[in-house]
Parts: sequence; C-alpha cells; structure tokens
Amino acid sequence: MTNSETEPLRPVVWHAHNPPQRVPGTVRYLDQTRLPGEVVYIETDQLDELCRAIRELQVRGAPAIGITAAMALAANLQHGPDETAELMQQLELSAEKLAATRPTAVNLFWALERMRRRGKECRLLPPESFKEELALEACRIRDEDAATCVAIGRHGAALLKDGDTVLTHCNAGALATAETGTALAPVYQAHTDGKRIAVIADETRPLLQGARLTAWELIRGDIEVTLICDNMAAQVMREGRVNAVFTGADRIAANGDTANKIGTYGLALLANAHKVPFYICAPFSTIDMQTPDGSQIPIEQRAPEEVTAFAGARTAPEGVKVYNPAFDVTPAALISAIVTEHGIIRGDLKSGIAAARQ
Ligand code: MRU
Repeated sequence: MTNSETEPLRPVVWHAHNPPQRVPGTVRYLDQTRLPGEVVYIETDQLDELCRAIRELQVRGAPAIGITAAMALAANLQHGPDETAELMQQLELSAEKLAATRPTAVNLFWALERMRRRGKECRLLPPESFKEELALEACRIRDEDAATCVAIGRHGAALLKDGDTVLTHCNAGALATAETGTALAPVYQAHTDGKRIAVIADETRPLLQGARLTAWELIRGDIEVTLICDNMAAQVMREGRVNAVFTGADRIAANGDTANKIGTYGLALLANAHKVPFYICAPFSTIDMQTPDGSQIPIEQRAPEEVTAFAGARTAPEGVKVYNPAFDVTPAALISAIVTEHGIIRGDLKSGIAAARQ
C-alpha cells in the first residue's frame, strides 16, 4: 500500500475493522527499512510478525516501539481463548516475547507494564469486553503520545529563535512517535510559529536513520535540512553553524544520564567543547526511575552485518571483527536541559527529575 505525500505521517496505528468498535482490528505500520525509496504500510494482527518488525527496525524510535508493542498485545488477544483468565495468561506470555525484542528503549517496557496493569483491572470482564478494553488502552497510549509530542514541541520551541540551526542525530521525529516527534517537535512547532529554523541531520551510521528518515521527513515537512556524515559534526560546530543540538532518548536514568542512538555521547562532548547547548527531548515515559544512573542502562548489541555491509553490499572484508553497540550513554553533566511534555528540566537533572515526577 502506498501513501500520498500530503497525509500526516503515522508510523503505527490501530486499524479497527468495524469502528467505533476497536475489536477486531489490525496494526498498521510504516516499514521504515524501505524509506526513503518506498512508502509501504503493512497490516497484521500477528504477534511474531510485530516482534520481528520491532527487532528489525521496521518500526523504531522509543515511543513508536512502545505503541507498537501495546498494539501487538491487543491484536494478539483477538486470537485468544474464550476465558478471561486464559486471556490474562496469553497477555503475560506475549508481553514476555515483546520484551525480548529490544533492550534499551524503556518505553517498550513501560507500555507492556501499562497493558498488563489494564489487564489486571479488567480481569473480571467477559472475554470480548476484555479484548476491547485492551485495544482501547493501546489506542490511548498512542493518542497520549501524540499529545506529548505537541507539548514537547511547545516547550522546546521556546528554546529556538528565528534563524537558528539545530543539529540532530538519528531520527526522533514523526517517524519515531505518534505525532511530530520528540527532538524534532520543537523544530516543527517553531516552523509553524513562523520562525526560520534549519536542521543539520547526522547521517547516523550504521543504519542511516538520519539520512534515510530524518532528512526524508523534514523535506516532506518543508523544513530546510542539510545532511552531514557523522564525522563532520566537529567541523560544522567549529565553523559556528550550529546554535543547538536536539536529540531524543531511549532511556533516561534517575540522575539524568541518557541513552540514545550511538554517536549521541560524542555529539554531547563536541557541543560542550564548542559551547553549543545540548538538549534531550523526551516524554516522561522515557525516564526510568528504577535505573539510578547510566551505567545500569542495558545497551543493545546488534548484528555485525549492519557494520560490514549496507543494502546487501559488503563494505568491509570477510572475517573482520566488529563491535556494534546500538546506543551510548551521555552523562547528565553534558546535558543542558531535558525537554519533556511537562516542561524543561535544567540545572541539577537528578533533583529536577525527582521534583518533576512528583
Ligand atoms: O535504533 P532506533 O532507530 O530505534 O534508535 C532511535 C533513537 O535512538 C531515537 O533517538 C530515540 O528512540 C528517540 S525517538 C523519539
């Protein structure tokens, strides 16, 4: 299925077969591995397919992973037995499978926990109502994320002035969320407010989310974007071309240390060396109060082939050893502020996060 350029980008939605009833329904997601060449949507209610879609980055970006997982649980329940107690067991088993797809983005675990909690609240309902309620909860998670993006956009746009250039890494835009993104939400909002904002997008090796996804969605959104290779960021900053760095986050520890796409830590060091403000934009669901600091954040290790080949063509010799961590951790001390849906956390991030969570 192809999409028209004018439709809003919706990386993942619940497609109800008989609205307003949510059940039966399917999960409809944009296959991001085919961008920018093709815009292809896939519809499925199969848990294993959705687990694979998350693992292989057909859907990616922390909030979108959480939304997809919630919808995958709801879709899978439709094939479940006619006993609510058994549906609850199925929910648990499916949640375990989804939890094993990607370890770093905490939004995945947050969304699974929320669905489990809703399951417990609905345990006395008849099976059909139980399925409907869980589908509704998944849709609520999506809708709330859309509102969160708008709020992050409003708070973050206040940090941008007319004529600014923002450097960003990976993709933390519409393709990673239910609406305008996290790191890109302030850019879209400032643009809507009439400010001239330009973006420099890091290509983001090895899977090129910056080149394939961020550049694509910003061009589509009529935002000026310039693509650079990751190793050009220092030069671009020294030339004074960057007013601020905005990135997303996959997990923020209680002390403000932040895991995001590999390369983010290096950018934070460069930004500090060049006195460029470095902002993390993320919803509260990305803050993990159970993780005291960044050393406790699990870092996803991905296949060597992502580094030794691209689009099926080898770019390194056979037999070479590869290290391929998908994320790194930026220490809180290098982060100027965290932009959330509830406002901007500055200064001592640990106490700022603790105060904001109350
Ligand atoms: O491996 P990916 O493409 O899922 O990594 C995505 C990122 O690192 C994003 O910056 C992060 O998830 C924030 S998305 C709003």
